[in-house]
Parts: sequence; C-alpha cells; structure tokens
Amino acid sequence: MGNDYPTQYQKSIEQPEIFWAEAASQIDWFEPYERVLDDRQPPFYRWFTGGVMNTCHNAVDRHVAAGRGDQVAIIYDSPVTQQQNTLTYQQLLHHVSRLAGAMDQLGVEAGDRVIIYLPMIPEAIIAMLACARIGAVHSVVFGGFAAKELAARIDDAQPKLILAASCGIEVNKVIAYKPLLDEALRQSQHQPERCLILQRPECQANLDAPRDVDWASIMRHAPQVACVPVQATDPLYILYTSGTTGQPKGVVRDNGGHAVAMQWSMQHIYDIQPGEVFWAASDVGWVVGHSYICYAPLINGSTTVVYEGKPVGTPDAGAFWRVIAEHRVKALFTAPTAFRAIRKEDPDGHLIQQHNLSHFKALFLAGERCDPDTLSWAQEQLKVPVIDHWWQTETGWAIAANCLGIEALPVKPGSPTKAVPGYAVKVVDALGHEVPHNTMGHIVIELPLPPGTLPTLWQDDDRFKASYLSTFPGHYLTGDAGYQDEDGYLFIMSRIDDVINVAGHRMSTGAMEEVLAAHPAVAECAVMGVNCPLKGEVPLGLVVTKDGVQTSPAQLSGELIQRVREKIGPVAAFKNVALVQRLPKTRSGKILRGTIRAMANGEDFTAPATIDDPTILDEISAVLSVLGYPAD
Ligand code: COA
Ligand code: AMP
Repeated sequence: MGNDYPTQYQKSIEQPEIFWAEAASQIDWFEPYERVLDDRQPPFYRWFTGGVMNTCHNAVDRHVAAGRGDQVAIIYDSPVTQQQNTLTYQQLLHHVSRLAGAMDQLGVEAGDRVIIYLPMIPEAIIAMLACARIGAVHSVVFGGFAAKELAARIDDAQPKLILAASCGIEVNKVIAYKPLLDEALRQSQHQPERCLILQRPECQANLDAPRDVDWASIMRHAPQVACVPVQATDPLYILYTSGTTGQPKGVVRDNGGHAVAMQWSMQHIYDIQPGEVFWAASDVGWVVGHSYICYAPLINGSTTVVYEGKPVGTPDAGAFWRVIAEHRVKALFTAPTAFRAIRKEDPDGHLIQQHNLSHFKALFLAGERCDPDTLSWAQEQLKVPVIDHWWQTETGWAIAANCLGIEALPVKPGSPTKAVPGYAVKVVDALGHEVPHNTMGHIVIELPLPPGTLPTLWQDDDRFKASYLSTFPGHYLTGDAGYQDEDGYLFIMSRIDDVINVAGHRMSTGAMEEVLAAHPAVAECAVMGVNCPLKGEVPLGLVVTKDGVQTSPAQLSGELIQRVREKIGPVAAFKNVALVQRLPKTRSGKILRGTIRAMANGEDFTAPATIDDPTILDEISAVLSVLGYPAD
C-alpha cells in the first residue's frame, strides 16, 4: 500500500483500527490495550481501552533508556530575562521525577487535579510532566487571564495543589502572579491544600499563607519517584477554553490516544524526526503549547524550544530569526498574527537577511484564518513551505493540514489544505445534508473522532453532548463555517457562535457581554468581533445605559474597559466601547450582532426583513464612524 496522502487518508477512515494500531506501536505500553477503538457507548468513543502506560515515561524515561540522555530536550530562550539554557533528557528526567516526588510528599495522588499557573519557563513543562508521571490531572491556566477566570477554573477542576510562579514577564512589565492567585483563591469556593510557589528573581512573592510552600526548598529534599502506570483512558489534563458563555469548557485529554496522536502527528504532519529541533512559539497556557511545546516533541524524542518573549519588542522583529538560527530550528509553528506584527515592523524582511536560516525547513501557522497576504509575504521572505493548518483546543491536533511527513500537496492560499488522516470532515447545511463543492456550510466531523481528541468535558458529559454532538447526530460540530472545493481543499471562514479570535487567542464575546451587563449603569449591550489588521479580530462593545445614568460616556467606557480587564484579562484586548441610544434588533428582540459587525467591517450587508426599526442603523453607523469603523 502506498504512502501517499490519498492512500493514508482512505486507510485511516476505512480501517481506523488498523491505522491507529500501527501508530500505537510507536508508543511504550506497560500492558497492551484490549481494543483499539471502543465503540460500545456511542456517542462516546474511547481509544486503546485496557492499555496501561504513562505519558511521562513516553516523553522522557524511554528516551534516556534508549541512549538519548545527553540529547537536549528543552532549549529555554528568554529575551525578557536575558537568559538561555538547556536541559538534556537526563536532566529533564531528574527534575521531573524530583518534582513528582515533591508532589507525592504533598499528598497528590493519581486522579487528583493540579492547577499550573506558570509563565514560559522550563518549570512549566517539568510541572506538566511531573503530573503525568504520578497520574495527576493537570490544568494549565494562561497567565494573561484575570483572577476571576483563574477562580472559575479552580472551582471547576477542584485542584488539590496549585503550582505557580511569583511572576511572569511581558516584554518589560513584571506581572506579579501571586497576588492574582491569592485574589482568585479569595473568589473561589474550592481551596487547594497547598500552593507551591516558584520564586523568580524579578519579583519575590509573599509566602505568608499556611498553604504556601516554597518550590526550591521542597525540591532540595524531594525523592525521585517512578512513573505510575495509568489506563490509556485516564485523563492526562483538562484545558479550559472559551465557550459561548462565561463558564469555560473543560476539555479533557486522555493519556493513550493522546500519546499516539502526538507521536504520529510530529512525524506525519510536521515531518520532525527524533533529535531535530521544533519550535512552537505559543504559550503553555494554550492547546498549541500543550501539544507542541510540551508533549509531541518530547514523546517524539525531539528538542523543543521554550521561548519567553514576543515576535516583536523583545527586542525587535528579528527575534524569531535569531532563535531559529541560534538553535537550528527545523520548523516553527506560530499564529498568523505574529507574522503580521513582524511584517508591520520589518516589511522588507531586512532582519531576516541578518540570520542564517539554512536549517529552517517549514513554517506552520494556525490559531486563526491565515489571510493570503500574510501567507505570500511569509513564503517570499522565508522561501520555505508555509503551511496553514486548522485545529481547535477540543481536537488537540490538526483537523486539516498539508501533511509534510506524508506528501507535500500544492498550497492554495486561504486553505489549510485537506482533512488530516483520522478526520472524516464534511460540510453540511442546517439540516445536516452535505452541500455541493464551494458552498458554505457548517463544518462537522463524522464520529468517531480520532485518538487524542476530547472524549468529553470535565465532569460534564451532558454539556459535551449538547455543545458538540446533538446538532447533527453522529457528527462532531466544530463550530466553524466554511466550504470544501472540488479538490477536497477546506476553507475555514468564520465561527458560527460567539467565539472570536484575538491575536490567535480564543475569546468569548458572550463572556464579555456578561461582564458589561453586570455594570449597574448598563441596560443592555452587544459585543462583536471586528476586523483588526494586526490581531485578526478585536472585540467591539456597544452599550445602552439605564435611564437616569449620570456618569459621563468617557468615564463609563473607561470603567467598562477596566472591568473586562479585571474579570477576563488583558488578553481579551477589549478597548473599543461606545454608548448608543438603542441596539438594532429583530421584531422578536434578537440583537443583530452580525449586521453591526458587517457595518463595522465595511462589508456589504442587507438588514434582515425582520428588523424592528431600520432607522437605528443610521445611528449605529454614526457611532461606529466616531470609533473609526469601517477602517479605511
Ligand atoms: N501574562 C500576563 N499578561 C499577558 C500575557 C501573559 N502571559 N499574555 C498577554 N498578556 C497581556 C499583554 O501584556 C497585553 O496587555 P496590555 O493590554 O496591558 O498591553 C494584553 O495581554 C494583550 O496581549 P497580546 O495578545 O500579546 O497583544 P500585544 O498587543 O501585546 O502583542 C502580538 C501583539 C501580535 C505581538 C501578540 O499578540 C502575539 O505574539 N501573538 C501571537 C499569539 C500566539 O502565539 N498565539 C497562540 C496560538 S498558536
Ligand atoms: P483554539 O481552540 O483556541 O485553538 O481556537 C480554535 C478556533 O480557531 C477554530 O475553531 C477556528 O475558528 C480558529 N482556527 C484555528 N486555526 C485556524 C485556521 N488555520 N484557519 C481558520 N481558523 C482557524
């Protein structure tokens, strides 16, 4: 059988058990699985039931045992602290097994949850692997979220332990994490038994609560512990992501299927072999960081880069090229927004010319739609394949990509190429019927999803079914809309829900509306994502005040912006808000967010026939133009 893309893809769909059993042979199992695909309880499907393994063993121990102990596992490159260092697999094993021992001493057992609130430092990876080592379920929380978001995750995951640092560093700002953590714990119902705090020299945290433990002190005497065997179907981690409400969804990842998918994708999608350097310039708080900074490169025996910096400003738009050249990076994975930021500062690519990029073979982009302009700029400047690929926190790895490790297909700008083996992708209409080529529709994936994708939401099977499986029975609803062309290329155009993509970060406009609506002066509000040349999309809020409100518009806007920053976090980039007399609605009272968005983006639109009062659109247009929309 051939190794070309059509053959591989067809085999994965028609003979999934054979396909994934072959992939599973690359993983170490303590006890073999009984079933490859367990389809006894549809719509819930499990992979590798009965198998016993450990993800940390596969990511660390087995490489040391196989003689890779002296190979670099992690390169830490931190322009914000002027530091660089490396950890070999042997050193990584030492640190991970010690931290696992420390957690063991603190009473953490298999199945307990541990929240990790750490910036982009090697300890974040060590913490994730240490949890995996003892079978604890980690939940990493991104540093750019506000205390309230951290509190929501603490209440949902109910961690026994929290691992945090004293601070993170954003370009030249030191963000003290401990006060945020303490505030989150004041807001949360659930209280962990202990908080293990890593003191960074840039900012010392007060360890005054009885629950606080100093990371360095406990590590000094911690024993090294071995990997705990876990079931393939046991949870490895929970990662919270934005849904349509303020309550984030706890995406669950299992151990066995995830390890198989990570290993397979590293070689077949990214074409990275053991010993080669792979760099995902993201953050451990996002799914890209989980899969492609931590687990996949290490399970594959490659070298991963932990970069504590930005594409621009640390110190300039040449930072990515310096890292690629200095560390001999073979492939970089980042978001298109990073490239837009670089291009803005260095449109002619002068800084690229200053570095030797001869080891660099491919650029992978994801997290948001890659506009053809950014794609062609990157292609021209870098002269390597630029691969747009499409995925979600829920799937944990790419749904559509140009699989360089199988067969490089021609690139079509604006398309993440074709469905990846394992994903039976369809485009359907509102009734679930497949639509003809080049026709927009809902993008769905026929069940079962491949290994590594979410088996459910944390302790919420009902929400899992309601959110993803009930709209089109037998299919997973991606929440994205788009089309497939006559060659099978997918085009992902927009979300069908209230989720927006701000600089590659997934945010809920519904959650922002909840924050605005809670302000005592606000009668009603609408938040939409509008186009931004740098961040792809940014939120725009329109607010109607209650009668008799005395606060000035400028003061109220400032208060609302501050509230979103405090309740959701700076990463939401909520900076545009205006007061309006009324919001456009249908006669049944539904706010016409799509119409407002189209007006702000300068797109053609037709007001729906059901609009209550079309004259409101003139008022909205006037307010938008004061805000600078549509942009020239
Ligand atoms: N901890 C604390 N605060 C954080 C943070 C973190 N880990 N990450 C971001 N923030 C804050 C920033 O300091 C900024 O705050 P400000 O409003 O006070 O300036 C705000 O959140 C927005 O940050 P960011 O999204 O980084 O925007 P930016 O304007 O500072 O930078 C880019 C723009 C394009 C350079 C930046 O968004 C970027 O590097 N994007 C790549 C995204 C990415 O890798 N996504 C992962 C998907 S693959
Ligand atoms: P997240 O869960 O944060 O990774 O965000 C997932 C969402 O980002 C998807 O559902 C898409 O809406 C969007 N997305 C990710 N990658 C792409 C891509 N390559 N093209 C278009 N949209 C993308």
